Amino acid sequence: MRAVPVFDAASPQARGITSLSLAVLAICGAILALIVGLTVYNLIRFRAKPGAPEPRQIFGHKRLEILWTVIPFLLLVWIFVLTVQAMHVSHPPRHGQPDIVVIGHQWWWEVHYPKLGIITANEVHIPTGQALLVRLEAADVIHDFWVPALAPKEDMIPGVTNYIWLQADEPGTYLGACAEFCGAEHAWMRFQVIAQPASQFRAWEADQRRPAPTPPAGAAERGRRLFLDKTCMECHSIRGVAAAGSAGPDLTHLASRRMLGAGVMTNTPPNLSLWLTNPQAIKPGCLMPNLNLTHAQVRDLVSYFQTLK
Ligand code: CUA
Repeated sequence: MRAVPVFDAASPQARGITSLSLAVLAICGAILALIVGLTVYNLIRFRAKPGAPEPRQIFGHKRLEILWTVIPFLLLVWIFVLTVQAMHVSHPPRHGQPDIVVIGHQWWWEVHYPKLGIITANEVHIPTGQALLVRLEAADVIHDFWVPALAPKEDMIPGVTNYIWLQADEPGTYLGACAEFCGAEHAWMRFQVIAQPASQFRAWEADQRRPAPTPPAGAAERGRRLFLDKTCMECHSIRGVAAAGSAGPDLTHLASRRMLGAGVMTNTPPNLSLWLTNPQAIKPGCLMPNLNLTHAQVRDLVSYFQTLK
């Protein structure tokens, strides 16, 4: 986790933006220092003194006026060139098919890996040192995909597809958030990018491809039957079970994820119980209704979800 991710770039794309920000900050800082310095100098040097005559009045100075038109113009040309360079680094030309498709929903992130046949939610795993092409879409309103340490901000617009390249130099967890106001729970539309060495990424990939196992008789099996009886399956998918809803996150590997409700809570059994008991108390306005489950039903469902590793 990084303190000020915008200034702590961890990918070539983010470094392109950071170096542009720092260059513009330096140029503007120099202009500010020059203007404040000259103003303070003039205030002191030419202040009114008792008995002093009126200073000489000057009307127009052609050379100075040309100078203070040409210098800012050249500075702007310089910033323009830096900007075009930064755009090329942060948004390299797109080629090939997307490695990842992220779809913004109110208020969570659907994450597909079309080449790998994986679907997950609210976390994006990537292998380090490799630029992955990400296609960005929206299911309802405008969202914005932003991982400050790794990539440029990019809008997700219904009916429009945008692309970014996502890459990380080092293994780590990089925080992401929705950067476009998208409704009541916009603040709880977060995600994590988990960058892993290639071998760990392949292990994760292999885990994610497996369908959900059928639990042995007991609480988990009762939970699985509840999942099918209680209309959970109308909105959620679990591969390996007759559940193929798409309104909410795919739950095939729910237990492998770190957060619940797009970052609103860590994914622990007690938190999962709270969420199932009344999602509206935790994330008011989210699509998941209060199903008025009994304590025993919540316990069985949590047992079942713990088997979805
Ligand atoms: Cu989605 Cu803000």
